[in-house]
Amino acid sequence: MIGVFDSGIGGLSVWREIVRQLPHEPTVYLADQAHVPYGSRGMAEVRALAEGVTRFLLGQGAQVIVIACNTASAAALYYLRRTFPQIPFVGMEPAVKPAVERTRSGVVGVIATPTTFQGELFNSLLARYGGDARVIPQVCPGLVEAVESLALETEGTEQLLRECLAPLLEAGADQLVLGCTHYPFLRTAIERVVAGRMAVIDPAPAVARQTGRVLARRGLASTGAEPATHRLYTTGDRDAFARTVARLMPDVAGVTVLPARWADGASRIDG
Ligand code: DGL
Repeated sequence: MIGVFDSGIGGLSVWREIVRQLPHEPTVYLADQAHVPYGSRGMAEVRALAEGVTRFLLGQGAQVIVIACNTASAAALYYLRRTFPQIPFVGMEPAVKPAVERTRSGVVGVIATPTTFQGELFNSLLARYGGDARVIPQVCPGLVEAVESLALETEGTEQLLRECLAPLLEAGADQLVLGCTHYPFLRTAIERVVAGRMAVIDPAPAVARQTGRVLARRGLASTGAEPATHRLYTTGDRDAFARTVARLMPDVAGVTVLPARWADGASRIDG
């Protein structure tokens, strides 16, 4: 079983791709909506939350964990691998590599949360793949909250996007890396603002492929022939989350939406 988590609904942009590519793999997803957004919390706090979420998913039977959150990956990927050495973790990182390979202008824009840019993961990405390109990190205050409240097509959200993308367009970026898993749900609005001037890169399909490779390599791939079933938990409002899931992914079958609660001062989750 694949465990997937995010601070909220953003990781569903990765989860839906996993379900599409690996239809026989059962999944358990946790949206930590009691603590969304992660992006303005410190590294240590996000690391502690990610550890609690990981323990919950392992308790639910997860054999591989997909950290469908750039912020939690930046804060906790190396830590979680050290803490749970027997468990394979698939992390998210901004897709700097393909963006640098594809840029013609030599300028790449990356939009993500402040915590994602602070992590050693982002600096190591720049060192490994930045090459001669100018890679511009850009934070977009308010966007995660806009997605969480499903304000995907509002004038207010489009204004936020215009403001955060303007410096990238002015700098001549021709590639836009979506470095936060919430942002793919704004893709229509982003494409409208960008108007063909930047190519938009969403790493979700590559992360789902990597998850399939990890399962196969570890001998964990499901042998079932039926479409799998999925349990989606939230530490926030269960009914609101169920409505969100139905709205964002009306076509996915076999889904049960359930509540989960943090206990012991946010160190343990009870399902
Ligand atoms: N979806 C997350 C990410 O990819 C986290 C956003 C947040 O909670 O701030 O970074």
